[in-house]
Amino acid sequence: MFGTMLGYKVFLLTFVISCASAIDLPDFLQVCSRNDPNLNDCIRRSTDYLKPYLVTGVPEYHIPSLQPLLLDDLVGEGHGVKCTCKNIKVFGAADYSVKYINVDLATLEFKVDILLPHLYVEGTYEVDGKVLLLPVTGSGGWQGNFTGCDASVTFTASTNPDASGVKQFHIEQFDLKVTVSNGYLHFENLFNGDKTIGDLVNQAINANFNVFLREIMPLVEHTLSSTFRDIGNGIVNPFSYDQLFPM
Ligand SMILES: *[C@@H]1O[C@H](CO)[C@@H](O)[C@H](O)[C@H]1NC(C)=O
Repeated sequence: MFGTMLGYKVFLLTFVISCASAIDLPDFLQVCSRNDPNLNDCIRRSTDYLKPYLVTGVPEYHIPSLQPLLLDDLVGEGHGVKCTCKNIKVFGAADYSVKYINVDLATLEFKVDILLPHLYVEGTYEVDGKVLLLPVTGSGGWQGNFTGCDASVTFTASTNPDASGVKQFHIEQFDLKVTVSNGYLHFENLFNGDKTIGDLVNQAINANFNVFLREIMPLVEHTLSSTFRDIGNGIVNPFSYDQLFPM
C-alpha cells in the first residue's frame, strides 16, 4: 500500500515537473508544420518574422541582441606576429536576408544561405611581433566595414528525448562559411602612434584585403559558428521538437 502511494507520488511529481518544463511558444516563434509541403518557405517567413526580436533581443528567452552582436576574443598567431582582438562588436548582423533555405526533417540537416549587405565592426587589438624584420607592436582601437557578406550555414540537429521522454530539438554540428565582396579596415595607434608607419601598414592591409581576410577568416568563421549555434540553441532549446515542428 505504502509502496503504491510512493509510486503514485513519484508519478505525480514527474508529471508536474515535465508539464512545468514545457513552456508555451512565444509569439515571435512562428512555427511550421512538419507536414507543410512548402516547409522551406514557411521557415523563411519565420526567420523574417524573428528579425525585429533579434535587433532588440528577448532577455526572458535568452535571446541576445544582434545590434550589436558581441563576439569572443580572436587570437591569431602566425608569420611571427601575435594579434589579439577584443571587445568585438558587430553592427548590421540583424539586417540579414535569407537567400536560400533547405530543411530536411528526415535527416535533420539544415542549409541556409544568408546575405548581410553591410557589417560595421569595431573593437580593440593588441599586436606584437615582427613583419619583414620590422617590429610591429601596438594596441588600440580598430574598425572595419564589410559589404556584400554571404554566409553559408549548414547544421545538423538531434531530437533525443529528455528524462520524461519528450523529444528535444538540439543544434549539433554547425558550420558557417563567409565570403566578403568588399571591405575596409583601420587600425589605430599602430607602432604606438607613429603615424607614418601606421598609415603605411593600414594601406598595405587594405591593398591586400583579400589576402588579409583569407588569413583571418577561419578564425572569424570558427567564432561565428559557435556564437550562432549558441544563439540558435538558446532560441529553440526551451521547446520540444513537437512544439517547433507540430504535426
Ligand atoms: C565605415 O563606414 C562608415 C559609414 O559609411 C564610415 O563613416 C566609416 O568611416 C567607415 N570606417 C571604415 C574603417 O571604413
